[in-house]
Amino acid sequence: MAEQTFYDNTPFEYGYSSKAEIIVNMNPLLKKVMKDNAGKVFCDIGCGCGRNLVYAVKYASKVVGVDLSKASLDFAKKYVESEKLDLIEGDNLTIPLESNFADLVVSDGVCHHTGDTVKAFSECVRILKTDGVLYLAVYKKYRYYPLIYYIVGGFFRMTYKSKIGMYIVENLFVKLHYLMYKVLKKKQLKKMETRNIFFDYFITPIATFQSYSDVKSWCNDYNCSIKNYARTSGNCHVFIINKDV
Ligand SMILES: C[S@@+](CC[C@H](N)C(=O)[O-])C[C@H]1O[C@@H](n2cnc3c(N)ncnc32)[C@H](O)[C@@H]1O
Repeated sequence: MAEQTFYDNTPFEYGYSSKAEIIVNMNPLLKKVMKDNAGKVFCDIGCGCGRNLVYAVKYASKVVGVDLSKASLDFAKKYVESEKLDLIEGDNLTIPLESNFADLVVSDGVCHHTGDTVKAFSECVRILKTDGVLYLAVYKKYRYYPLIYYIVGGFFRMTYKSKIGMYIVENLFVKLHYLMYKVLKKKQLKKMETRNIFFDYFITPIATFQSYSDVKSWCNDYNCSIKNYARTSGNCHVFIINKDV
């Protein structure tokens, strides 16, 4: 049996109350590349619980979702329910798919959690057909989140290592975070959902941060070019990348 991963314990699952809501909240550039590549083969590497697969199955001829977390894939299978969809338990660092397989590869908030961001990127490019498109969302280097992840997150991660610390995080900080969401955000999420957000934000064991020029230099190294870019208001920035001939 495969080893339990961090995201098996806290899948990236929130805001799945309706498919319509998921689509409204999707990045417009992601929706656009999916529409522009209608009828083609899509892969979502690190698809998690499948929020992007919901829209992908509307447009693709075939969709493959890959993730390390079996719990996330099980959720995605039930949630998305499409004959076009294949789900594979696999590692972004050695994607179990042949080269030149997909017309569109989606990597939404994944490469920065793998431990080798450049290798994860290069694997996404490897499975792309020539002239195919990669939708890449990675954490921004120049924003307050890296500091929060290292300092506040570092404190939580350290605390969570002991049994007593785990108890304190679960029963104090996770609950305070839930209350904060309830009071400050318009969207009402369940406790389990805000717990998943808390873990992804603070406790996730691996996170790296990339600048625009970091991604540009990977593109130079792997014969790709950036066709579109969005800084977005959140922690990630988004790149639309072409695999050049
Ligand atoms: C922040 S979640 C994003 C999930 C999904 N892309 C989304 O936007 O909803 C990160 C996902 O990456 C997956 N992941 C992390 N490292 C991975 C690896 N080396 N190979 C495959 N998946 C990985 C996790 O299991 C998790 O589902």
